[in-house]
Amino acid sequence: MIQCKTSKEIGGMGHSLKRKEDARFIQGKGRYVDDVKLPGMLYMDIVRSPYAYAKIKNINIDEAMKVPGVVAVVTGRDLEKYNLHWMPTLMSDTQMVLPTDTVMYQAQEVAAVIATSKYAARDGREAVRVEYEPMKPVIDPYKSLDPDAPVLRTDKEGKKDNHIWNWKVGDKQKTDDVFAKAEVVVKEQMHIPRIHVASIETCGCVADYDKVNNHLTMYMTTQAPHAIRTVIALVAGHVGLTEEKIRVISPDIGGGFGGKVPVYPGYVIAIAVSFLVGKPVKWIEDRSENLQADSFARDYHITAEMAGTKDGKILATRFKVLADHGYTDASANPSKFPTGMFSIATGSYDYDATYMECDAVYTNKPPGGVAYRCSFRVTEAVHAIERITDRFALEIGKDPAELRLQNFIKKEDFPWKSPTGWIYDSGDYHKGLLKAMDTVDYHQLRAEQAEKRKRGELMGIGLSTFTEVVGAGPSKDFDILGIKMFDSAEIRVHPTGKAIARFGTKSQGQGHETTYAQIIAEELGIPAENIQIEEGDTDTAPYGLGTYASRSTPTAGAAAAVASRKLRDKARKIAAYLLEVSEDDLEWEPGKFFVKGAPEKSKTIQEIVFASYTNHPPGMEAGFEATHYYDPPNLTFPSGAYICVVDIDKETGAIHVRRFVAIDDCGNIINPMIVQGQVHGGLTQGIAPAMYEELIYDEAGNILNGTFMDYLVPTAVESPKWETGHTVTPSPHHPIGAKGVGESPTVGAPPAIANAIVDALSPYGITHLDIPITPFKVWKALKEKGAI
Ligand code: CDP
Repeated sequence: MIQCKTSKEIGGMGHSLKRKEDARFIQGKGRYVDDVKLPGMLYMDIVRSPYAYAKIKNINIDEAMKVPGVVAVVTGRDLEKYNLHWMPTLMSDTQMVLPTDTVMYQAQEVAAVIATSKYAARDGREAVRVEYEPMKPVIDPYKSLDPDAPVLRTDKEGKKDNHIWNWKVGDKQKTDDVFAKAEVVVKEQMHIPRIHVASIETCGCVADYDKVNNHLTMYMTTQAPHAIRTVIALVAGHVGLTEEKIRVISPDIGGGFGGKVPVYPGYVIAIAVSFLVGKPVKWIEDRSENLQADSFARDYHITAEMAGTKDGKILATRFKVLADHGYTDASANPSKFPTGMFSIATGSYDYDATYMECDAVYTNKPPGGVAYRCSFRVTEAVHAIERITDRFALEIGKDPAELRLQNFIKKEDFPWKSPTGWIYDSGDYHKGLLKAMDTVDYHQLRAEQAEKRKRGELMGIGLSTFTEVVGAGPSKDFDILGIKMFDSAEIRVHPTGKAIARFGTKSQGQGHETTYAQIIAEELGIPAENIQIEEGDTDTAPYGLGTYASRSTPTAGAAAAVASRKLRDKARKIAAYLLEVSEDDLEWEPGKFFVKGAPEKSKTIQEIVFASYTNHPPGMEAGFEATHYYDPPNLTFPSGAYICVVDIDKETGAIHVRRFVAIDDCGNIINPMIVQGQVHGGLTQGIAPAMYEELIYDEAGNILNGTFMDYLVPTAVESPKWETGHTVTPSPHHPIGAKGVGESPTVGAPPAIANAIVDALSPYGITHLDIPITPFKVWKALKEKGAI
């Protein structure tokens, strides 16, 4: 039970307030980009490449132009005239807006058709004739480094191979020495497959350029409106679209999960066309385009190794990664961290030797590497450490829970410096795991498993005890395209004591309109229901870097608390003036200041606010407003202890997730109901890559499951009953002690499921299976081992 400091009426932290935004969502009154309809609006559709790698010999638009309603067909050559055919990626690589001569992946944009209706645009699209000369693509990332592999990025002067960058961290010599002397060394090769976020709403925009005022209003599904405004200004500043002339409005968003962070070519083409014809242009992707061409997630090939003692002490880890980035590095990682926060892969365990290395390569696949509810590569890292930890336990015949309890960083050792340099802020890993074990009745389950094994039945128990890292980030280390990753809050309280607050983040369904109001309510005692929250309009909201990677609570949530505290300081001064006492004689309780020892002498926050407009102390600035740009001193390090129990049918390989217990620790909780919702969604997006989702390409670069007929997104039917709980270890540096939560379950769930399945199969000598672990993979592995 969470103790709340505020009353239910105020609704501060810890109250399970119903989500304010749901009033409009459940009544069909949400306003999404596709709801934007402007006079004279044109529609855009995009011709896409059927080939993964081909020369464009000719684009014939004659028939398309004859389609009634089609007004223009735009090609790369057209954009080239304005130097708009290439654009920068968020990782300072370059990406084609439209190609002039070569396509680099199947479903790449080739031309855009503009018409007076979306149907005419689609008909026009079908009538564009493109002549290609197909070339042999590079699909396998390992082969992309072969000396005879074709060099894909010939646009880059002097480029002689498909290597993008090499990154390393840790102490190689020390780690190699520990490995050389270790009693036990285990090693596994893992692939974290390419997946896709598949949010309910696809991407889209309406670019509305007003020629008279030289002003662009860009309605778009972006998770980072301000950053996008800056990027548009950087790309289009040379044609007069400077930053003050650009307004980005991100209306309601139907799920982002990282996939709505990048700048997609469609946005730039729509802007260019609107700029040239002076009319609004709408572009909305269809479901297949979204799945086939938008930013992918993961695609890390990892060799993981662990060294330790026979009795279970972890001594060192080594990780070697090959990252398949597609034809350009369009990840959305902070500039200094090309592998995001992969270096969290040392996990929750106390040892001091590690070495990690990653090489990124180009292939003929879509670009990305940003998304799926964890954009900073923590999922890959957690999968590697949690799988190899179980592999180590299996090798020495030790219970994986016992092994973890033996190796956890102790709660008194926080703040703890990891061997890759992170300072974990706080944690109590023992408490979390013991709670999870208690909830599932772990020892009883192990006894049941032992009995079942005697009968040849397959039952598995999998653990994942992960450390997350969210809240990018401290400006000394974190920037995107040079822009520091702080975030902001601006609070205005009106004379009657009701408020509006605006933020640099942007909710895509996380419930910010409720939880930010709760933070302000906690700090100022103004009821959360009287606080209106706004995000997503760059003309009104303070500058911020947006919402992804669970950064909103650690950054903008903190900004809300600090801005509120600035106001409370002002309120104290006004209260002292009104009550004719010294500020030191006042005490605060949520919603009012009162005189120490004389509680009947008090002023409510509403009275104080009114006075700030009507009767404030001489010399004081009138009004009741504050803004804060919060630059976090550190990241926050949420954690979790997950236990999954599976039963597997030996004959068919069918996997039944019998139980899944998730104990999360996200520090102090703002809204328990919202956190539970976040965890449920995240766990479902954890089972997805663990058992179902993977984008599959054949050797020619054809995507084999480019529609929802074949790309399996789990529904309520496939989702087990999630049993959730929490421990609370506040972040010591966050103003309200909160850590982020949105990502954690997606990070923690896949290895728990994989570990459970491998645990079930381990009596037959199976030590690892790559996710997604399908019934076929299980059946095949059992068959190969002669178990069936
Ligand atoms: O950046 P994003 O909003 O996706 O992630 P988050 O900061 O983890 O927050 C997700 C939702 O959970 C927001 O509505 C938060 O306010 C809420 N939350 C909470 O109530 N308590 C926490 N300790 C962390 C998040």
